[in-house]
Amino acid sequence: MTAQGSAATSAVRSAQIDRDAGIASVTLEVNGAIRCIELEPRVSLLDALREHLQLTGSKKGCDQGTCGACTVWVDGRRVLSCLTLAVTCEGREVTTIEGLAADGDLHPMQRAFIEYDAFQCGYCTPGQIMSAIALIEEGNATTDEEIAEFMSGNICRCAAYPNIRAAIRQVRDAAV
Ligand code: FES
Ligand code: FES
Repeated sequence: MTAQGSAATSAVRSAQIDRDAGIASVTLEVNGAIRCIELEPRVSLLDALREHLQLTGSKKGCDQGTCGACTVWVDGRRVLSCLTLAVTCEGREVTTIEGLAADGDLHPMQRAFIEYDAFQCGYCTPGQIMSAIALIEEGNATTDEEIAEFMSGNICRCAAYPNIRAAIRQVRDAAV
């Protein structure tokens, strides 16, 4: 099992919902910027990011929680954004792949993915990188077996797994 799951399990903060109009007003902090959006209460965090905020780095693979391509962080914890309702993220910090680079410098994990050729088509890569960074912070990257287990929610149809694990090892070892 991975540590991925729905942000709805944390403390509840309420979005404002106009039930007559069927519209919710949601305020999120996305990659450090406050973003206010209006959407239908049924909209997933993934669709809110991609369709309402034009942050298309997070990918829609399966839209049912089985591929990990949509992985983002909510309050620093990785979640599957396709299974997370945007209204449950009211007032929370959301980090996407677009938020990793600082002052134009790629995150070390992004650089490691390039260095170790850890992608082919690249479709799964944003989710892989968001999970990989969280994995190390969770302390679940001590062995190859552990990396494989705790990255098992992120599917790579190009089977770049050995290279992904090599990139993770490099960042893990550089951090100690
Ligand atoms: Fe969310 Fe596949 S798109 S898990
Ligand atoms: Fe193609 Fe992972 S690089 S799906």
